[in-house]
Amino acid sequence: MNAHEYEVGLHKSEIDTPALLIDLDVMEQNLARMSEFFRGVSAVLRPHVKLHHATPILAHKQIAAGGVGLTCAKLSEAELLAAAGFTDILIANQIVGERKIRRLVNLAAYTEVIVAVDHPDNVRALSAAATARGVTLRVLVEVNIGHNRCGVAPFEPALELSRLVHDSPGLRYLGLMGYDGHLTLKVTPEERAAQAPETARLLAETRAYVEAAGLPVTIVSASGTFTYRYAAQIPGITEIQAGTYLLMDTAFQEKGVTEFGCALTVLGTVTSRPSYPGAENLAIIDVGRKAIDTGWALPQVKNPAGAFIKSMSQEHGRMDVSGVATPPQLGDRVELSPSDCNCTINLYDRFYAMRGDIVEAVWDIPGRGAST
Ligand SMILES: Cc1ncc(COP(=O)(O)O)c(C=O)c1O
Repeated sequence: MNAHEYEVGLHKSEIDTPALLIDLDVMEQNLARMSEFFRGVSAVLRPHVKLHHATPILAHKQIAAGGVGLTCAKLSEAELLAAAGFTDILIANQIVGERKIRRLVNLAAYTEVIVAVDHPDNVRALSAAATARGVTLRVLVEVNIGHNRCGVAPFEPALELSRLVHDSPGLRYLGLMGYDGHLTLKVTPEERAAQAPETARLLAETRAYVEAAGLPVTIVSASGTFTYRYAAQIPGITEIQAGTYLLMDTAFQEKGVTEFGCALTVLGTVTSRPSYPGAENLAIIDVGRKAIDTGWALPQVKNPAGAFIKSMSQEHGRMDVSGVATPPQLGDRVELSPSDCNCTINLYDRFYAMRGDIVEAVWDIPGRGAST
């Protein structure tokens, strides 16, 4: 029996707090909206699972909604996905170091895995390990398309590394990857709309350059929730690696991605209504920085309407309730929308999947904290 079975059917007010909730109706709308978009373009969606830390049931929902394979950030996430029965997993990252590479080639022995590279030393290490393990490792060359994080430069440097991968025993060259992280939180929607097609085109042109030199390219993977709708329209881009669309951050919404709803909230409880001078409009809640991530911004208050978070310490939140029609009492529930879902999910062992106010399911988060 599922250890959480007794919680199914509970009303929201009966869940112990702090707790992490998913509004299933909103999440299903997000999935449907993304599927609908991809029905109209030739690129396919290879959903990123780092948002929910490779929680198998959420990955299954992304595949059921049309995802072709999965994308993840960590080797540990790929291992979890493989153990949950998924095949065709792209690790959109470099796997470096003897121990990690040994784990990677071992994983490749029992599932279809793809890894990104951006340095010849890494290519040689992967080739040696794959050959020693007797596996063929599928590889994409990561191209720096403006984010200035990882990746080799477009055109000739990308071709050179592609050729090395192509000619290396134990490796199978599949193509290119480029992530436009510079067009996310730091640009306006107008700047993004102007720059995203150009950025994706740079990757597509690099593909053409590589192909003109005689190397076959089957995958060109790009983009995320901020820019999928631009990148997916550029001929030559075959896959989009978006993930946040599933549950949505308030930070993404504020920066112009408005077609997806925020499905994730943190449920808390009012634990104090202090009476010292100046505290008239203050409610203290049991949601602090250990229960919701504040790296990008303080959370928004979804309920009670009109309240806002003034500050957060490790265990407590200070909530201003001056704008609330009926001020909350001790024990009342509050619901907060995190600015960063990914880092918030990392703080919890399970999701409460809610249909309206009722717990429909409880899903463990096995990848929480799986940072290797
Ligand atoms: C390489 C890479 N690809 C894809 C994504 C997914 O982007 P999003 O979560 O905005 O959908 C990220 C997010 O950080 C990323 O780093």
